[in-house]
This record gives sequence, structure tokens and C-alpha cells, in this order.
Amino acid sequence: MCGIVAYLGRKAAQPILVEGLKRLEYRGYDSAGIALLRNGGLCIKKTCGRISALEQVLEGPRGLDTLGIGHTRWATHGPPNTVNAHPHVDGTGKIAVVHNGIIENYNTLKTWLQSEGVAFQSETDTEVISNLIGYLYCHGESAERCNGQHLFEWAVQQALQRLHGTFGLAILCSDFPDTLIGAKRGSPLILGVGNDEYILASDAAAIVEHTTRAIYLADNEMVLIGSEGFHTKTINNVVVAKDLKEIEFSLDQIELGGFEHHMLKEIFEQPQSLSMCLGGRIDKQCGKIKLGGIADHLRELTQAKHIIFTACGTAFHAGLVGEFLLEHLARIPAETEYASEFRYRNPIIGDDTIVVAISQSGETADTLAAVEQAKERGARVLGIVNVVGSSIARATDAGIYLHVGPEIGVASTKAFTAQVAVLSMLAIELGRRRHISSDDAARYIDELSQIPEKISTILDQSSHIREIAAANIDRENWLFLGRGFNYPVALEGALKLKEISYIHAEGLPAAEMKHGPIALIADGMPAVFIATAGPQYDKIMGNIEEVRARGGKIIVVATEGDDEIRRHADHLITIPEAPELLQPMLAVVPLQLLAYHAAVLRGHDVDKPRNLAKSVTVE
Ligand code: M6R
Repeated sequence: MCGIVAYLGRKAAQPILVEGLKRLEYRGYDSAGIALLRNGGLCIKKTCGRISALEQVLEGPRGLDTLGIGHTRWATHGPPNTVNAHPHVDGTGKIAVVHNGIIENYNTLKTWLQSEGVAFQSETDTEVISNLIGYLYCHGESAERCNGQHLFEWAVQQALQRLHGTFGLAILCSDFPDTLIGAKRGSPLILGVGNDEYILASDAAAIVEHTTRAIYLADNEMVLIGSEGFHTKTINNVVVAKDLKEIEFSLDQIELGGFEHHMLKEIFEQPQSLSMCLGGRIDKQCGKIKLGGIADHLRELTQAKHIIFTACGTAFHAGLVGEFLLEHLARIPAETEYASEFRYRNPIIGDDTIVVAISQSGETADTLAAVEQAKERGARVLGIVNVVGSSIARATDAGIYLHVGPEIGVASTKAFTAQVAVLSMLAIELGRRRHISSDDAARYIDELSQIPEKISTILDQSSHIREIAAANIDRENWLFLGRGFNYPVALEGALKLKEISYIHAEGLPAAEMKHGPIALIADGMPAVFIATAGPQYDKIMGNIEEVRARGGKIIVVATEGDDEIRRHADHLITIPEAPELLQPMLAVVPLQLLAYHAAVLRGHDVDKPRNLAKSVTVE
């Protein structure tokens, strides 16, 4: 939600900011803007819409403009228009700010600043930050109040201490043409450290082109960057030392590499991304699983009386699969909670409860808040996260990284299969220690190791799946139905279709249909059934017939070699055979492709669906 980027170095800042913003555009695309320090003043350009629109209003880059900040917005306070676009400048015209996050007490601060004669232009919470810094800057000139710091730094610190809420910030002051300040609380901020140049950004994607060395700011920390180097401290002025870390992904991982969209690339990457996720963790020879990140907590997990998964969206669906896996293989009572609900409930957390937060980005505000809530109640909290060093990765006691590389497409795909793979490994290992035999564990491990290759064969059906999407493209309401381990897959299939093709879709446990949703079935309404081989096969066949009898269009995902089902389906997609509990990693792939092709056929921008952003860092 909003991407920020800033540059200080020897090169022209503008092209670096624009390229950085393009890499962060998945975080929001309602408006964009940059501020450059030029001839002792601020040069601001902003527009409504995407970075391509911003490029239209920019003049050619000037070599002397070597300091600047940029922003791409996902609107929260105030509609997406040019006035509300960032950067926001204070009343004196000296301070410019780009912001990712939400200032909760902005109304109180705004009212106070207005009573002091400060005028506001926009409806945003961010303008409170620039105006507050500007106000303090103008009223804090006494050297002793500044405590030996320069006034700009002092004013920023004083302002940040008064803010409630979350921020990732990059701040300029035209009186200090050699200084860039960054600060963070609750929103990600990384400083890339190059040779005589610095790039501050919400995400390493905007940095890797320039350097792979970076420092990750923690909450309530700020960084002061000048031509002579950088200093890190808390917003209360306590110096903190930070280690330089290596950014773990490369440029080709975030480029399209010949694919039309990131989502399609990420769907097709799944054989490799899953292999990376499983790599080094499964030992087929010994029939064991090694999850280094949680090694110190395995005994606790094995003895747990209750495991709660908490997550949002696609990660929540992965959590549901995890719940079924843990119950089935390890006989540990488990439940999955929407993080947004969990954080406001009064959950029962005993000594033997373990909470596991699942998140691709590691920045989802609701999931992070659920982690904090669980910690406050004394639970051991573990994470299953993709983005290394993200807020949830840091806030949890320990965790397992997905290791699937950056996921750029707003619709989550390769993260889902990896989350389920991690949960499968966890359940098999805990199962081996508690409930299932070593032979069974070894068999599941062997089956798990074959999943990446099996996904490759499903991807070969992409054009067939496109034809199915095309044949039903005019339908506005779809159902996705599955049972058992494939019920969460039905939820995920419906979410994928909704979010990128804007078609209304409902995911249901197939048997629930007759308790109400069957009333929706009318001539030609597409119903996607996951009817793979397993204990509930006959039951789901019954559900298929119920829909067929009422004129629904039957699209079936079935197991290869099931010739009988062909007679009951208008469209058939097959997946290779696998144990029922590992099928979600296979069955979801055709549904990802179905949603992708439907969205493209409808002419939507798949990687930038309307109203959405990749990481939901607001409540
Ligand atoms: O980064 P997270 O996994 O925490 O994100 C959770 C959801 O916001 C995310 O899965 C969302 O539902 C995706 N757009 C689904 O494709």
C-alpha cells in the first residue's frame, strides 16, 4: 500500500526515482509524484493515475538534480487526485514528504496546526506530517532546543514523536540540499547502500538494480543520509548501529522475462519455486523433514494442544489446508482465523497454544496486529513468511521462510503453493513424531517431492484452460465447489477470479450448496468442481449431478485417467494423481490459470487489479 523511493548520490535522481516507482507500482497505482531538490528549492511533479502518466508531465532529467523522493499511492485519506498525490509540502514550501502508512491522530494534529494558522491543501493524513515538521522547523531555531542536531533533523524527530499510527517516510528540506531523512514505524523501509549513492525504498525491488547491500530499518528508527555517509538512530535520538545485509534476490526475478504479466510468470514459475521451497528441507533417504527456522520449537510444536493459524486472503486459504493437514497427520487440534477477526476477538490462548501467522509479504497490517495480540496473550508465535526481514518475520519468535523469490503479481499464486508445501512439511514432520508411521511419513515425503514436476504437466494445459475461460467469459456469476482438502482450493479459485476479472464468484464446500446457494443455479451458470480421486469422490459426483440437473455449466478438475467423469462435465481439466492431502498444490494451478485467462479476455490489467494493492498495510 503505497510505494516510496528516494535517491541521494551523484547521478540524476529523476530516472532512478521513476524506475524505482515502476518497480513499486504493484503497491498502489492511484497517483504518483516526485520532488527534486533543484537550485535550492523544491521541484514537485505529480499526477493522478499511474507512473506512465507521471512520465508525461516530467521534463527531461537534469544531471544536477541528484537528490529526490518519489511516491506511488494507494488512496486511503482523500480520493485519488493530483492534490492528494504525494509528495506533500509544508506551508513554507521547504519540507517535502512521501509517506506509506496511516496517521491515526491526523485530525487532532490538523486541528491544532490550523489553530496555529497553518493552511492545508489536501485531504490526506500525510500533509499533517509535512506541516508538522515545517511548523516545528520554523519554531525550533534555538540551538539548545536542537540539542546540537541540525534543525531539520530535530524537527523531524519532534514531529515523529507526536505521530500515532504507521509510517515509512522519505523527507527533504530545501535548506539542507545534502540531506535525506528516512523513518519507519509499521511500514517497511530499506536503505540500499551503493558506491557514493543511497536508495531508500519500501521494497528491495526498487534497490537491486543499483546495489545489493542494504540496511533494514526497525520500527521507530530513522536514517540520516548525506554525501559523507549515513547515520541511524531512533526517533528519540538514540544512536543505533545497523548491519549491512545482502539483498537476496536478483533483477531477473522481478522482471517479466518474456511473460506478458507477472501473475502468469509466477504461475509458470511454480515448479521451480516449489523446488526452491522444498530444497534442502526434505530428506527422502531418511524419510525426515528439516525445518531449520523452527528447529528450536519442534518439541513445543509436537506437544502443542492447540495450533491457531492466522492470515488474510490467499494465505488464509493456505492456513485452512494447514489446519486439515495437522489434524489429519498429527492429530493436533488446529483452527484458522482471519487475522482481521482474531485481533479483535478474545481468543482462548493456553500455555500449549501456538499461533502461526502466514503471510507472503510479511507486512499485512491485520496479520501483524494478530501476531502482536497473540504475543501479548503469552502465545508462542511462529511465522510462515516469504519476504525475508519483513515486519511479521521479525515480530514472530521463529519461522519458516517460503524461499520462492519475490511475488509481484497482486494476485497471489506461487506463495499459495509454497505456503501449502511448508504446511505439508510441518504436518508430516509433526505427524511422524506423533501419529503416523515412519513409513507413511516417508511415502508422503516422496509424494511431496514429486509435486513440482506434476505442476509442470498441468501448466501444459494453459491454452485448453484459456478456451474454457473464453467459452464462459460472458457469465457474471460463478461457483467453485470442493470438499475436504479441496474446499480451501475452491475458496482460492473464487478469490482469484473475483480479484482480477471482477466476476462475482463464490467458493463453497460442495455439500453446503444445497443449504442455499443452489438457488443461484440457472441456465449456463459456470460451476467449477474439484472432483479429484479421494474419499469424497462419490459425494462430489452427486453434487455435480445436482447442479447439472438445474442447468449449470459443469467445469471439472479431475484426476488423470478418470474417463467416467468426462460424461458429466461440459469442460474437463485433469491433474496428476496424488494423495488427497497433497492435492491442493495441484488443483489450485488450473484455477489460477482460469482466472488469469478470464481477466485477460476481459481486457483487465492482471497485475494491477482495480482497488487492490499487493501488501495491505492498512486496517
Ligand atoms: O502478504 P499476505 O500474504 O499477508 O497477503 C494477504 C492477502 O492480502 C493476499 O493474499 C490477497 O488476498 C491477495 N491479493 C490474494 O491474491
